[in-house]
Amino acid sequence: MGRAQEKVAIIDFGSQYTQLIARRIRELGVFSEIHAPNLSIEELKGYDGIILSGGPASVFEGGAPSIEKEAFSLGIPILGICYGMQLMAHLLGGKVRPAPEREYGGAILMVDRPQGIFSGLRTTGGYRVWMSHGDRVEELPPGFEVFGHTVNSPYAAMGDPERKLYALQFHPEVAHTEIGKEVFANFLFEVCRLQGGWNMKAFIEKAVEEIRRVVRDGRVICALSGGVDSSVTAILVQRAVGERLTCIFVDNGLLRKGERERVERVFGRHFHMDLRVVDAADLFLERLRGVMDPEEKRKRIGNLFIQVFEEEARRIGEVRYLAQGTLYPDVIESVSYKGPSATIKSHHNVGGLPEKMDLELIEPLRELFKDEVREVGRELGLPEEIIERQPFPGPGLAVRIIGEVTEERLSILREADAIVEEEMKREGWYERVWQSFAVLLPVKTVGVMGDRRTYENVIALRVVQSLDGMTADWVRLPYHLLERLSQRIVNEVSGVNRVVYDISTKPPSTIEWE
Ligand code: XMP
Repeated sequence: MGRAQEKVAIIDFGSQYTQLIARRIRELGVFSEIHAPNLSIEELKGYDGIILSGGPASVFEGGAPSIEKEAFSLGIPILGICYGMQLMAHLLGGKVRPAPEREYGGAILMVDRPQGIFSGLRTTGGYRVWMSHGDRVEELPPGFEVFGHTVNSPYAAMGDPERKLYALQFHPEVAHTEIGKEVFANFLFEVCRLQGGWNMKAFIEKAVEEIRRVVRDGRVICALSGGVDSSVTAILVQRAVGERLTCIFVDNGLLRKGERERVERVFGRHFHMDLRVVDAADLFLERLRGVMDPEEKRKRIGNLFIQVFEEEARRIGEVRYLAQGTLYPDVIESVSYKGPSATIKSHHNVGGLPEKMDLELIEPLRELFKDEVREVGRELGLPEEIIERQPFPGPGLAVRIIGEVTEERLSILREADAIVEEEMKREGWYERVWQSFAVLLPVKTVGVMGDRRTYENVIALRVVQSLDGMTADWVRLPYHLLERLSQRIVNEVSGVNRVVYDISTKPPSTIEWE
């Protein structure tokens, strides 16, 4: 001990995979921080290693993001990935050119030098790697040697072991690159000579410290939803500032069965939080009357949520900070590096509140993926029933009722949803999938029940597997479970006479139906 904490800086040039790099580094037990390219040389000196991410720019473009050339002579090991490689080559006197053909997808990497970042790898047979680039290095900078090549990239990997500079044309952070973990481990432990051993306990300490540093003696509010993200955020903030945290739970009437009671039990009684529960169900229902359009629903719910939340917050008095359980996938689906990307769906948990209320945001989970958040939650002593809770959209059941949201339709869906949850749990499937839920369709179909003709609602079942919600595949549930789900829903939920199963992937579909 006594030694400063090991840490690696990841310089973000705008790649959609930057957080994945951070995650790989964390998985190997090393603390890492993501920074914009404008980090000063002085600041860079505080790191044990530097990783330059990929990015959409070309080094030839005016205004392409860069770092100071001096960074390469600090003696700190640097690993450049894709754009990071081109930048390294460009700044150190190599030649970068647009590739004759853009390379995107799988390629076979032949390792030429099994040392440094390629320590322990074999030089025969090749490895599957993932490429995604337009430019490529055509001439190595002085001092560099080729470490690996593919059919289309003579310099798929380069290195200068003397200066501890390495770079890869392919993406080691994505799962399609089979040697990703080995390459990062080599960089951290062989090249940077780190010890590792960092874990989620250390993450918590660091996050708590950071929250204390920012908040000082201020007050914090947190919008608690009952989901794992906001729950973990609340407990973290509570650890940091204790009673200066107030949680607000808005019951918008669009919640799952028993959700409000669960939140009151866990946070009010178990964690002794200052929890304010606002009953706004009627207000929301009123605001949704006659609304059919999905985006309009989302907007109205989002705006009303802000309004209700604001009113409640005003009662608390002087508050400067708002804690939010924003995760990494929320961040990239909502913003993009080079300006606004097309809004796929307006997720109301990002943006909105802080600007309107003039609050400063605290987002301790911003760099984490869902499974990491769960790990943090366990470490904080959050009960399993919350940790294992599947993601639930902010606009709640409203986006699972296609067409108008009414009290009657809410109650049909809530009952069907409760059956899905119960059966999925009974068979141990609930924790194994990303989400499993019911959707109420705006069509009626004919059925027959006890010799009588019926004309009633259809429930669609949506069960998906996903790593982060950004892509998803439908789950091949066993037939007997599907059978049981269908039987119970039709028998127990009045107003439903048909159940169908959604077999679409994301993309091109989305997980939620609206
Ligand atoms: P989609 O439907 O876009 O959903 O494929 C991806 C993931 O995000 C959840 N989701 C939301 N979460 N507020 C949230 O907090 C929202 O408005 C929202 N909309 C969708 C969805 O449940 C899935 O896990």
